[in-house]
Amino acid sequence: MGANELLAELAAVGRNPGGGYTRLAWDGATMTLREWFVGAAAGLGLEVSEDGNGNQVAWWGAGLPGNRALLLGSHLDSVPDGGPLDGPLGVASALAALAELKASGWAPSRPIAVANFSDEEGGRFGVACLGSRLATGAITPDAALSLRDDDGTSLGEVMAARGRDPRAAGVASWLDDVEYYVELHVEQGRWLAPNDAAVGVASAIWPHGRYRFDFCGQGNHAGATAMADRHDPMLAYAATVLAARELATGARATFGRVRVGPGSTNSIPSRVTAWLDARADAEPALEALVAGITARAQWAAAEDGTTVTVKAESTTGAVEFDHALRHRIAGLLDAPVLPTGAGHDAGILAAKLPTAMLFVRNPTGVSHAPEESAEPADIDAGVAALTDVIRELG
Ligand code: GLV
Ligand code: MN
Ligand code: MN
Repeated sequence: MGANELLAELAAVGRNPGGGYTRLAWDGATMTLREWFVGAAAGLGLEVSEDGNGNQVAWWGAGLPGNRALLLGSHLDSVPDGGPLDGPLGVASALAALAELKASGWAPSRPIAVANFSDEEGGRFGVACLGSRLATGAITPDAALSLRDDDGTSLGEVMAARGRDPRAAGVASWLDDVEYYVELHVEQGRWLAPNDAAVGVASAIWPHGRYRFDFCGQGNHAGATAMADRHDPMLAYAATVLAARELATGARATFGRVRVGPGSTNSIPSRVTAWLDARADAEPALEALVAGITARAQWAAAEDGTTVTVKAESTTGAVEFDHALRHRIAGLLDAPVLPTGAGHDAGILAAKLPTAMLFVRNPTGVSHAPEESAEPADIDAGVAALTDVIRELG
């Protein structure tokens, strides 16, 4: 089966009425996708295992002696109301490429594996790439398992409720048997279309992070409290959003999630919690950006007799993909090389082993939204490129 057909099998899973997808870690939709992964892999004669972090891995030639494995894949979870391809395209393309290679009679010289990494988006517990961070030791099991979702349920409790043993979470030994990781992904941003290329190769990932801002003030009556007497935390929040917009020159700063307490139309809020996603082309620039936004938040809060505290919840340093591997792949495919502002499991694995990424043209560049798309012919071109890479490295 080709990647377009495999993706069509997923079209109804976690789909919202508006056409977007909500597939959060360990929710009903991702459980269905886990079962789908096992079935699709078994249909290709691959052996599926799952590590203590919920990462599923389908193996071809697991017993082949000598060389360590070539790992492919991506993730099947999404952001809330995301698109159909961020994640699933990489998993479906890897399975389609293996189907094609098997049908052609090609035999690998090393084990080839396809991963479905758990909770790449961090849409439920707030930290991105939890599955790959746990597997590589980039986050401790204690820190990860105690993260809570919006209902107050911890990751450990959620995993236990899904029949997993949280005590098994942590550094995954199967990664020691992997030599290369190559993740194919839908392009996020628009560079390939104007440059007339269906497939590109990643050079680097911008450093990025998620920061929680807690603004606190005095709740009070919306009608009875004179404007001059208020300690309204919403004002400092609003000023901080504008400051982020102003300070993110050549960088990215986004407040995409906010919670207001108590959340009553006729009450002045007592607290506003908002999450900043910040990214820049270098770590000092990212640090300066976050420090600048924090300073403006503190200044605005002090003006109103309110307070703000800021906590980094998830940070990822700059990633420069393995030079030799990316030049080898770009040369093989005659494909352009481009950086990305998006985060990926490949960025986490890059700290441990040579890692590369292929991007498939996204005509509008829209991602993390229902409009995310790729032309079927470009999806086929991505599979063809990945197939060439597997022949080269496998
Ligand atoms: C994941 O897609 C991210 O860039 O946050
Ligand atoms: Mn994403
Ligand atoms: Mn992704």
